[in-house]
Amino acid sequence: ETHNVTIAIDGPASSGKSTVARRIADDLGLIYVDTGAMYRALTFEALRKNVNIKDENALLKLLENTEISLKKRNMAQSVYLNDEDVTEDIRQNNVTNTVSIVAAHPLVREEMVTRQKKLAENNGVVMDGRDIGTVVLPDSDVKIFLVASVMERAERRHKENRSKGIYSDLEQLKKDIAERDYKDSTRDTSPLKQAEDAVRIDTTKLSIEEVVEKIKSLISTKLN
Ligand code: CDP
Ligand code: CDP
Repeated sequence: ETHNVTIAIDGPASSGKSTVARRIADDLGLIYVDTGAMYRALTFEALRKNVNIKDENALLKLLENTEISLKKRNMAQSVYLNDEDVTEDIRQNNVTNTVSIVAAHPLVREEMVTRQKKLAENNGVVMDGRDIGTVVLPDSDVKIFLVASVMERAERRHKENRSKGIYSDLEQLKKDIAERDYKDSTRDTSPLKQAEDAVRIDTTKLSIEEVVEKIKSLISTKLN
């Protein structure tokens, strides 16, 4: 029954999108598509090749010559640039702190959206990002908008970093998250925004399990 089901999950940085999207996709046998990873992959490639990230045409040309693919690996997902595994590289700070500049270019978005729509064409998917419910999959069966306080989101990232043995400064994380939210919500082309028919879930005080259960119950209500 969940054959061609499409679930859109949007929200600000570190609100828990990818964690819950992956879980739901796995539980329901759907494909998980992390659209943020696509913008991150292009950003990583541009930085490495010294392409000016303010130059839209240069980015577009680079994107045309770059295949970005998402491959399932156990519970996680690997990201490939052409045939190279860049899963870890795209999470680097220099990528995180510049990806919103790359993602603001209208023509870059247009190409990304085309690719993302194609990924959902003949598949049931759980897709997460910023504009999935509004632009990429406006007809999706269930739309979720996840939010949490900046403090809570910074603390989650902080904890996640610590568990990986990476030092991070909590105050700096808060600033970076707030700045990225600001850039993503104020750009002209498909800004981060809740779709009118999306269900908003404030996860500040919820565990991953609780969020997953809430969304799964919304899905089953919708499909029955
Ligand atoms: O996981 P995290 O919240 O750090 O962000 P992400 O989902 O990996 O997305 C990284 C960046 O890509 C966002 O801050 C946006 O600038 C951009 N993005 C976007 O513009 N549209 C999407 N559908 C997904 C990501
Ligand atoms: O994809 P997005 O940037 O929205 O967030 P994420 O990477 O899925 O989640 C950021 C961190 O918050 C991860 O370490 C999750 O395990 C954690 N998290 C949490 O502690 N409680 C939740 N309700 C959701 C996520």
